[in-house]
Amino acid sequence: MYEAKKFNLPKLDGISEESVKQHIGLYEGYVKNFNAISALLPEYAKDSEKHAHALSELIRRRSFEFGGMRLHEHYFPQFEGGSTALTTSGPFYDAIVNEYHKPEWLTEMMRAIGNMRGPGWAMLYWDPEGKPARPDDSGRSGGQFLTGFTGEQHQGHFVTLPIILALDVWEHAFLLDYGAAGKGKYLDAFFKNLNWGVLEKRFNEASA
Ligand SMILES: [Fe+2]
Repeated sequence: MYEAKKFNLPKLDGISEESVKQHIGLYEGYVKNFNAISALLPEYAKDSEKHAHALSELIRRRSFEFGGMRLHEHYFPQFEGGSTALTTSGPFYDAIVNEYHKPEWLTEMMRAIGNMRGPGWAMLYWDPEGKPARPDDSGRSGGQFLTGFTGEQHQGHFVTLPIILALDVWEHAFLLDYGAAGKGKYLDAFFKNLNWGVLEKRFNEASA
């Protein structure tokens, strides 16, 4: 069982307080529903043959609720502390430049993934077992980024890899502020408010 976390969010530029409030309400719904499904499972498991169909659907959907919970727990903290630019030195910066040449190109990649059709998330992971795309002066011997699109909340993840960036591109993230066709403006606002220091901290933990 889990409890919904609290987030210490500043006033965001281009993402309204009402939108954030509703979005956090949805996050709390994932926590609630994960717990509700978890509570049902032992009862259905007692007579699993009789409840086989219900049980299988609950098991399948529980990872959807878990993904919704955990991904939003990566999403909201990315705004905590307020908008902070990427530090232009250090291992995180070096790793980005090694693979993307310019930090802006990583941002463009994440935007392109975010613009893919379907509800989901644009994701950036770090795999310590990969190899740098090309030699550089960082002294780093291993590790590479992986980007991906996670459908709904739980499909298409790179399993076990630590998450560096989780960009929610479900319509609920922008519909209130920008309408159904407003994803591009929302992506602008997301990156405007992003605290790159949070991502750098995740990277440092993932690559330690
Ligand atoms: Fe969301």
